[in-house]
Amino acid sequence: MKAAVFHKPGDIRYDTMPDPRIELATDVILKVTSTAICGSDLHILSGAVPQPEPMIMGHEFMGIVQEVGAEVKRLKKDDRVVVPFPIACGHCFFCTHGASPACENSNYKHYGPDGDLMDQKGAALFGYTDLYGGYSGGQAEYVRVPYGDVSPRIVPDNLSDEQVLFLTDIFPTGWSAIDWAQMKGGEVVAIFGSGPVGLMAQKAAWVNGASRVIAIDPLNYRLEKARVVNKADTLNPHEVDVIDAIRAMTGGRGADVCVDAVGFEPERTFMDKVKATINFEKGSIKALEMCFKAVRRMGTVSIMGVYGSTYDNFPLHRVFDKGITLKIGQAPVLNYIDHLIDLVKDEKVVLDDIITHTLPLSQVSHGYKIFDEKEEDCVKVVLKPGQ
Ligand SMILES: NC(=O)c1ccc[n+]([C@@H]2O[C@H](COP(=O)([O-])OP(=O)(O)OC[C@H]3O[C@@H](n4cnc5c(N)ncnc54)[C@H](O)[C@@H]3O)[C@@H](O)[C@H]2O)c1
Ligand SMILES: [Zn+2]
Ligand SMILES: [Zn+2]
Repeated sequence: MKAAVFHKPGDIRYDTMPDPRIELATDVILKVTSTAICGSDLHILSGAVPQPEPMIMGHEFMGIVQEVGAEVKRLKKDDRVVVPFPIACGHCFFCTHGASPACENSNYKHYGPDGDLMDQKGAALFGYTDLYGGYSGGQAEYVRVPYGDVSPRIVPDNLSDEQVLFLTDIFPTGWSAIDWAQMKGGEVVAIFGSGPVGLMAQKAAWVNGASRVIAIDPLNYRLEKARVVNKADTLNPHEVDVIDAIRAMTGGRGADVCVDAVGFEPERTFMDKVKATINFEKGSIKALEMCFKAVRRMGTVSIMGVYGSTYDNFPLHRVFDKGITLKIGQAPVLNYIDHLIDLVKDEKVVLDDIITHTLPLSQVSHGYKIFDEKEEDCVKVVLKPGQ
């Protein structure tokens, strides 16, 4: 079959790989109809999240069930499903406590309680390096989905792939950021990063009763997207002092909720890179530092952006003095997905309006390039296998 294969940093290309097959009786083989490129995939492309061997990329995908293992009961051939990105067994301690990204069984080679740099990770993720389980991803014609009865969700026939594809990751991720803040209604929510995850957090903030949603990003075309599709107020850090502006909008206090939808690879200066090298840091916590400043006392900062090392000068004093509630980690997609499917079905939220590029899978290298280098006003790339 054909697939998007990571070979080395900077080199993800359309390649021929062996077809997946049922390996365990609980597996499902999916014929992928649509798949997307995520900001998390860019950390693999850049080499910041290392992968030694060639690997099929992709953790945002959906498709048609092609074959089911002998023990799969809930799915049958020809069902149309979306697949959440964390691979969860469904019966371990964490899976039964609403914490599927900590599943104890799916990442059996590198799982551990430590959460350290080179080992002891959480649940396996599709197409996300050997450390996260070594599973092939879904930027491919076919993909093996383990624990077929646990995570995949059948989606209504009348909804297009594009309407439901982002239920696999970015909408539940944006939703987590807001749910973790336990909003009561009327909150001002400032979202740093107006890429796909930030845009989804903006949507989730409105659904959860925000009175104002502020999008922050150095790229004006992404702010334009936030204004057009999500009616957000927008701030460009190259043009205004973002912290002053947010305080001016909130009686001097700061935003009730701040979301870091940027992560450890923000826009960086040469000096930022030097500092990171000297301190053995991966990237920078610049965006997160902005969140700590912009949030009001006793507010919540939800960190959806990925962070990949220790960081010197972490401003813990500010977090303490302001009494900030911090929530961080992989999105527990399974906790939300059924509710979120209903929101889409009931037209309470629209997800496909962030798509800027739909490409055949054969053009995957181009898709990665424009998404990574922010060319052609790229916000979100959907890939179509078999084309
Ligand atoms: N926690 C999870 O479960 C989860 C799930 C999906 C993605 N992620 C992570 O979320 C992050 C965002 O993903 P994405 O797909 O939106 O990626 P993206 O790279 O397209 O978006 C990041 C955005 O941040 C902007 N940015 C850069 N520096 C900034 C700064 N200093 N202040 C404000 N904005 C800045 C960029 O211009 C860009 O628009 C990534 O780190 C990704 O790995 C986490
Ligand atoms: Zn993702
Ligand atoms: Zn489990």
